[in-house]
Amino acid sequence: MRVVDLIEAKRDRGQMDPDAIRAVIAAYSRDAVPDYQMAALLMAIYLNGMSPAELAPWTDAMLRSGQVLDLGHIAGVKVDKHSTGGVGDKISLPLAPLVAACGVPVPMVSGRGLGHTGGTLDKLESIPGFRTDQTVERFVELVGTLGLGLIGQTAEIAPADKRLYALRDVTGTVASIPLIASSIMSKKLAEGIDALVLDVKVGTGAFMRTIDDARTLAETMVAIGQKMGKKVVALLTDMNQPLGRTVGNALEVRESIDILRGEGPADTTALTLELARTMLSLGGKDPAEAERALKDGRGLERFRQIIEAQGGDPRVVDDPDRLPTATREVVLEAPRDGYVGAIDTTAVGVAGVCLGAGRAKKEDAIDPAVGLTIEARLGDRVAKGQPLVRVHHADRGVDDALARLRAAYRIDDAPPTVGPLVIDRIG
Ligand code: URA
Repeated sequence: MRVVDLIEAKRDRGQMDPDAIRAVIAAYSRDAVPDYQMAALLMAIYLNGMSPAELAPWTDAMLRSGQVLDLGHIAGVKVDKHSTGGVGDKISLPLAPLVAACGVPVPMVSGRGLGHTGGTLDKLESIPGFRTDQTVERFVELVGTLGLGLIGQTAEIAPADKRLYALRDVTGTVASIPLIASSIMSKKLAEGIDALVLDVKVGTGAFMRTIDDARTLAETMVAIGQKMGKKVVALLTDMNQPLGRTVGNALEVRESIDILRGEGPADTTALTLELARTMLSLGGKDPAEAERALKDGRGLERFRQIIEAQGGDPRVVDDPDRLPTATREVVLEAPRDGYVGAIDTTAVGVAGVCLGAGRAKKEDAIDPAVGLTIEARLGDRVAKGQPLVRVHHADRGVDDALARLRAAYRIDDAPPTVGPLVIDRIG
């Protein structure tokens, strides 16, 4: 196989040969295809898409780039959740322990920040000592004993996605329906689940900007999962403003603790419970248990246990000030009286990346402490000078971040119509 033939076929809107697809993914996984050729192929796919006849071997090759876990010896229906990516989307952190505390095992393999969106692994690693690079054996043991494990792709689990994900992050090739669908489904199908809940984000901060595109992505992923014999449900949820009140890794861990304490913002608490109920019903349990486990502190206790089991400092749960904290702060103020009429949520995410909460290049290090506190939400009435966003920084990228945030907030004379958080359910 010549990789350049595949690139040219896709560039010219032709069909890629299934065997060539399998070969290129396998070769890239063992470092036998250079990043520049893979980047060109990804861009051709981004621009020209993939047919179902191409997507099936592409996803299958990514899934088979590593091992497919067998969790059959662990009792219960194993259920995971995955989000297509948003700004301030920390839901996996409170959700996984909450669902595990209700008796449904959650084997969770997550990703890092991608483009303007944050990643579960980066958030977890802002907890001092927390290791997401557990061995597969330890991961399986954690799912068996605590009912959950929180890891990233390893050399064993969908390693092709690990490499492609990092390359897409820095080559402008993230927001592609076939690339997102194959990325998510390859790692989810490799982790030994029986059922999956997908949170497909739509809006100004999502990779899918329209409900039609989000629906197509959801249907594509549900179809891939069902073909593999899994129960898959997708929720389409709103991403026209940051989720919750924080953006940035340690800040989002703080908010996750608040959610599990029953003191979280209304939207992140509601979405955590909605996704938990869906996971519990797929797992054959009473969905109402989710709210009970939040109220009686079982979810928080399980979070403390998994932090400790994965090497982190469990004291952060009672004393979040132990998390990395940025010492400097500037405030973006409302330029005039009015209502928050629209938020360019991608620009808010990029502002976080400028501060160091995400990566601009593959090898960039994250600053776990920096980020944003969202002080004004869509539809809020604001007076001139009132805080819109609090910027927690370490003297890096502040002017750039402030300029982006200023441009991201539109203040109108009349209040906007704000849609529901959960827009639709598929599957
Ligand atoms: N989440 C993933 O795991 N992969 C993508 O491509 C996008 C979001």
